[in-house]
Amino acid sequence: MSDDQYVLQHQGLLVIHGAIADGLRAVLAAPPDQAMDLARRMGAMLLAHHTLEDTILFPGLRRASRLKSTDVAFLASCDRAHKDLHRLCDDLLAATSAAVVTGLTRDTLALLTSHVAEEEAGLAPDRLRTMVTIEELVEIGQSAERMRDELLARQPGGPALRDEVHAKQRGG
Ligand SMILES: [Fe+2]
Ligand SMILES: [Fe+2]
Repeated sequence: MSDDQYVLQHQGLLVIHGAIADGLRAVLAAPPDQAMDLARRMGAMLLAHHTLEDTILFPGLRRASRLKSTDVAFLASCDRAHKDLHRLCDDLLAATSAAVVTGLTRDTLALLTSHVAEEEAGLAPDRLRTMVTIEELVEIGQSAERMRDELLARQPGGPALRDEVHAKQRGG
């Protein structure tokens, strides 16, 4: 188990991204009567994850003021992807037909896949190390964990995912 906070932060990100992508794939594989419900759950989970990044993580990185121009461009690109994904998730939550849900889920998964690849590279431990001090990272991490647990507790399947994230962070 790593006790490197930069590595742990990144591992937590991978777990959440993996869970959301797996959930979207499960929507596409599910029978129509179950797909709608699962799609709504995944849409809500993705929105919750982005709420956390938009209100805690990204502002925390920007506040630390050690960003290079490539980091600034990376975060701006993430903001744009979040906006597009937010629109898709809103449509997903409002969709009333299985066919529409399937199409929107495909679009969401495609955009999410490219977005998380960019985000995971941009927030890789060694890159994160240059953006924030350990004290700043710990403070961001504590705020993010508090908000993540609150957001997850409010949605179906959320508490189980929260426990999985905690177990991974402990090296499980
Ligand atoms: Fe993101
Ligand atoms: Fe993310």
